[in-house]
Amino acid sequence: MRDYGYDISDYKGVHPMFGDLATFGKLLAAAHERNLRVVLDYVPNHTSDQHPWFIESRSELDNPKRDWYIWKDAKPDGSPPNNWEAIFGGPAWEWDQETQQYYLHLFLKEQPDLNWRNPEVVEAMHDVLRFWLDQGVDGLRMDAVIHCIKHAEFPDNPPIKQDSPYLAFGLQLEPVFTAHQPEIHEILRGFRSLLDSYPGERVMIGETWAFQPAELVKYYGTSLDEFHIPYNLMGTMMPWNVADMKQAISAYYAVIPAGAAPNFVFGSHDVHRFATRFGPENHRSAAMLLLTLWGIPTMYYGDELAMENVDISAGRRQDTWGQDRPELNLNRDPERTPMQWEAVANAGFSPPGVEPWLPIASNYQDVNVATQQRDPASTLNFYQALLKLRRAMPALHRGDFAFVDELPAGTMAYIRTAEGQRVLVVINFAGREQSLDLSSLNDSGQLLLSSQFSRPAGLTLSELSLNPHESLLVRLP
Ligand code: GLC
Repeated sequence: MRDYGYDISDYKGVHPMFGDLATFGKLLAAAHERNLRVVLDYVPNHTSDQHPWFIESRSELDNPKRDWYIWKDAKPDGSPPNNWEAIFGGPAWEWDQETQQYYLHLFLKEQPDLNWRNPEVVEAMHDVLRFWLDQGVDGLRMDAVIHCIKHAEFPDNPPIKQDSPYLAFGLQLEPVFTAHQPEIHEILRGFRSLLDSYPGERVMIGETWAFQPAELVKYYGTSLDEFHIPYNLMGTMMPWNVADMKQAISAYYAVIPAGAAPNFVFGSHDVHRFATRFGPENHRSAAMLLLTLWGIPTMYYGDELAMENVDISAGRRQDTWGQDRPELNLNRDPERTPMQWEAVANAGFSPPGVEPWLPIASNYQDVNVATQQRDPASTLNFYQALLKLRRAMPALHRGDFAFVDELPAGTMAYIRTAEGQRVLVVINFAGREQSLDLSSLNDSGQLLLSSQFSRPAGLTLSELSLNPHESLLVRLP
């Protein structure tokens, strides 16, 4: 638990803190009874240093598992074999005193990287996939997968560029030789054909941090034979402004391969809450965007309540990322606080007297499931209304997409169309009232949903006024 589940010492077990395989079986069955599917995180890039494979590997130079990890001699002066740095900070090489070699870890030193150029590793990790697919899981979300294969010659990474997106993570080098190597695609095709050999629908999702849309979409595979969903994480890095969002969305849609489904992620356990990043006043409009764009939306728990970042005092901090560089604000605890279920002790996450692993947000009395269920105008009810419409209307879940151009600054509008159904989405990004003339689309429209709920159903499109931060879903005849 050095990286809270991302340092695995047994790929085929459940940490006793959470139960055991029988508990997992019950969870899966209960979910399936409710027509919910369960996708597990699969962590192929690294194991824990407590994993028996690594314990064996580090035990002696000629151990059969030595080459399951990435071991290298020191340079003649004793320094690491190259300049690679760990994403979590510091050098990516850790010296092993016993066997007098360095091992590679692109994350914590307790997370040694597997050697994916070794066919035995590939086979062992396929076996892990089979194990969970045999248990009946509906898919896998493949962690840090862009890093699995490193450049075969281990060249130094170049210094970071002045406009590099990696600056936000505090990196000093451009990860040219430690991410997105071409050989990764063969590994992914191997995973995919394994998934496809199973009955039923099994989804393959990739944690594909890529900053250029063209680079990201390579992870669908040239014949759509890799990820069904290579995560599009651009929405976790964007400011809340129309021009940047529009540009990013258009650039992404322009390169989606025929037959592939786009995806949008605004929140995750690795990035600050989007209610905080975009501002709580914009949270519902961001949800409107996420759930009405063309593509598969990915939601993070608590976003449906507008959970915000929680300030974590130094003494309660769990995550170690960025602790030596507080100015980068990388600590991930603020977005990992317990789900807020009820206005009771510990927000109903754990029984009274059982201290949860991170503090509960101070707003839990209002921001919790039970309270919001009772309030027809709550964020939770807004999400539910939006999800119901999305499910019911082909235009929203699979319709074509087109931006409406020439709008007042600070507003965005687009149309989704399918089977003769036309749905208009209008979003006011700004904190002031705005009036739009959308009469080129139609004279009138029927309101399906406003982020602020209060509005008459009939809309005149020649003079459509939006409240500050309001967004609307409108059916066009
Ligand atoms: C991924 C996970 C993150 C984890 C890291 C190392 O980025 O999402 O939470 O710390 O991989 O496994």
